[in-house]
Amino acid sequence: YSTLAEPYKIKMVEKISLIPKEEREKRIAEAGYNQFGLKAEDIFIDILTDSGTGAMSDHQWSALMLGDESYAGSRSFYRLEKSVQNITGYKYFVPTHQGRGAENVLFPLLIKEGQDSISNMHFDTTKAHVELNGGRAVDCVIPEAYDTGLNHPFKGNMDNDRLEKIILEKGAENIAFIIITITCNSAGGQPVSLKNIKETKKIADRYGIKIIFDSARFAENAYFIQKREEEYRHCSILEIVREVFSYGDAITMSAKKDGIVNMGGLIAIKEDLELFNGVRTRVVPIEGFPTYGGLSGRDMDALAVGFTEVVEESYLSSRIRQVEYLGKLLSEGGVPIQNPVGGHAVFVDAKKFLPHIPYYNFPAQALCVELYREAGVRGVEIGSFLLGNDPDTGKQLESALELLRLTIPRRVYTDNHMEVVAKALINIYKRRDEIKGYEIEEEPEILRHFTAKLKPV
Ligand code: F0G
Repeated sequence: YSTLAEPYKIKMVEKISLIPKEEREKRIAEAGYNQFGLKAEDIFIDILTDSGTGAMSDHQWSALMLGDESYAGSRSFYRLEKSVQNITGYKYFVPTHQGRGAENVLFPLLIKEGQDSISNMHFDTTKAHVELNGGRAVDCVIPEAYDTGLNHPFKGNMDNDRLEKIILEKGAENIAFIIITITCNSAGGQPVSLKNIKETKKIADRYGIKIIFDSARFAENAYFIQKREEEYRHCSILEIVREVFSYGDAITMSAKKDGIVNMGGLIAIKEDLELFNGVRTRVVPIEGFPTYGGLSGRDMDALAVGFTEVVEESYLSSRIRQVEYLGKLLSEGGVPIQNPVGGHAVFVDAKKFLPHIPYYNFPAQALCVELYREAGVRGVEIGSFLLGNDPDTGKQLESALELLRLTIPRRVYTDNHMEVVAKALINIYKRRDEIKGYEIEEEPEILRHFTAKLKPV
């Protein structure tokens, strides 16, 4: 019976409500048909992101009270350090305020102008930090990732043949590092297998290139390894997590996901003392003194506890099961999704859902707006609207995938909420031919998707 229900009960609740349809029409129009412009109070079910939106446990809330707010040498720092060392096996660590803070501190120490960063897929802030440092972000995920109908157990895998080819073409000295994103968010929260990671490590060693894990969803990735990679079936999540990290030189982490806290991030370094000294120097002016790095003591304590909870199998299986449940309901209703379902989200294939809307009229954004109108549900577009314009020509780029991400916060919503989301999307699917696309009304030069205003075509 223990696997049939959530391994927790609810101690505190937060009221949500659905505003009337006419109000929703008004609010989304005022927001320029951009879901980032909506207010939280206008939303019934918010599945924009799983980042910083999870529910902390009673143990985490009580850990807050133990927070030591000393500027230097805080006890909370040492508790978190121990917790980080427990999951990574790495020697060195600094906290940062979130994942992009970690990227901002670490990347300038490793990238030289004109070098490439090769990743299965760069998250958008990761790409931005590579580019801000004069580098170029090259995505090298297996081609299967781009075929949403195809079932593959590890769609986040690196295309290792292509990786080696790029290294040979470009010259190893022109590669700053290899970033393995676990799970691969942009491809649909898809996992990377240990077999694949070991092959990447071999190539990296052959050419003397560092491996960095972008490890926001490290525990969810380990869960898929345990379930789908025969060799690791009998290993604990913690054993798998440690083995994965053993193939890296350093990690950056947004702790707002698998740390199950509302704010936090970190850099951990396996053994390179010189790199660590560089990080320790840079973190001070950017994030804060190395024993707090942008976090209060209480945040560090809650995170230390989060890392022990996220590797529990009962938690992970109920988490992944809920995401799969939403995927199953949608598939049964005929809605095309990325298969198999990933760890933190269901990705709806808007190209297949709305084949009559071309990429420059943003099919996944149109679907996102429609879902809000239908049921007050806020998802997020991962497609051409997010991708933006070519910096040289100013022309709209075409994304390989047009996805609507339905991102499930950890320990927050029930299966009933999943059923509402599925029902709403299935209803939209039935009248999909009526849905029209959007065009840009006004946009800033970079990271436009957060603030751009759209209008219906
Ligand atoms: N790397 C990955 C794989 C991420 O998914 C994110 C954030 C970051 C780095 C940056 O971390 O937000 O703490 O600064 N992803 C969120 C999302 C925002 O919605 O997918 P951050």
